[in-house]
Amino acid sequence: MPDMLPLANTLLIVISGIALVTGRIAIARRNVAIHRASMLTATVFAVLFLVVYVVRWAMFGSTPYTGQGAARTIYFGLLIIHSIAAVVVIPFVLGALKYARREAFDEHRKRARIAFPIWLFVAVSGWVIYWMLYHA
Ligand code: HEM
Repeated sequence: MPDMLPLANTLLIVISGIALVTGRIAIARRNVAIHRASMLTATVFAVLFLVVYVVRWAMFGSTPYTGQGAARTIYFGLLIIHSIAAVVVIPFVLGALKYARREAFDEHRKRARIAFPIWLFVAVSGWVIYWMLYHA
């Protein structure tokens, strides 16, 4: 069971990332319905990711990284930037959702344009970290 959790966790963040990109493409094509559905999906899967991650961490602790040399520097550098970005993005995502709900789309766009690239970075760097920890 503990072996499956990192993969389950990464799949959740992959699905969230795919939904995020789908939503970005949809709004570029002015398709608000698909944009809305995709972004809400991205948010739900990001929250699920966080829940599984915290439960896994609380139950089994974290997996130590065993790589050495430059890979180790890259791994921890990426992990730190990834973790900071994951926290920084939260108020922008919440703001984007709040203003979308109020149909204040100018305010929505301001926050969403900041949230999107940070969120994408968090998702992609999360996949890279998983790959470096378990496969590299
Ligand atoms: C956290 C989730 C969301 C993110 C990250 C997000 C992201 C974005 C981004 C980046 C844009 C700007 C597109 C551009 O620059 O032209 C945008 C615009 C827009 N979003 Fe979202 N969005 C989210 C949730 C939603 C939701 C739930 C709705 C509900 C209807 C929505 C409706 C819209 C609309 C109507 C626009 C066009 C605004 C305009 O150009 O006047 N978004 N969104």
